[in-house]
Amino acid sequence: MEKVSINEAQKITSPNPFALVTTKNTDGKVNVMALSWWTYASNHPATVAICTSDRGFTGGVIKETGEFTLSMPGESLREQAFMCGTCSGRDRDKAGEFGLEFEDSETVGAPRVKDSALALECKLTGSVPVGDHTMYIAEVTAVFADREKRPVFAAEGYRKLRAFEVIE
Ligand SMILES: Cc1cc2nc3c(=O)[nH]c(=O)nc-3n(C[C@H](O)[C@H](O)[C@H](O)COP(=O)(O)O)c2cc1C
Repeated sequence: MEKVSINEAQKITSPNPFALVTTKNTDGKVNVMALSWWTYASNHPATVAICTSDRGFTGGVIKETGEFTLSMPGESLREQAFMCGTCSGRDRDKAGEFGLEFEDSETVGAPRVKDSALALECKLTGSVPVGDHTMYIAEVTAVFADREKRPVFAAEGYRKLRAFEVIE
């Protein structure tokens, strides 16, 4: 084996998971961020962990409200979902500009992204600073799925979003 950088490692592990983190701040602004660094963290209670850069807008809103949703967009949202990773909700209205549609959540204020294969409603239970990111740990308070939709994954590191065919 040859020695490689952590960025090369992330290309080698592609496709990587992908989700849209949706938040709603106390002013009522809905924001959507592209995120690959998420994982299931516990079954009982159902828990996930997400890592967001401290330079982004999303982390601050999660700290402020203690809530977010994670939506795994279907193929029809590939372009809009990718765009949510190219600019910040600090100075853009991504929820309005990219033509995404939303549906109200049952247990949190942040809405779920319509046309997703899966959506998790999440309530913050803890956070851990990790270098230039913060890991937010959250209990999953409701789960919704559309089995007709194929979720997209991050390909070539984080350069593209793609859906995959299962080949037996
Ligand atoms: C495919 C893809 C995956 C990404 N994954 C992450 C991630 O896991 N964590 C992170 O902090 N930023 C990630 N980003 C970058 C953020 O989405 C980007 O910095 C965004 O502008 C942050 O938005 P916000 O400032 O509205 O929170 C990803 C971007 C793309 C395109």
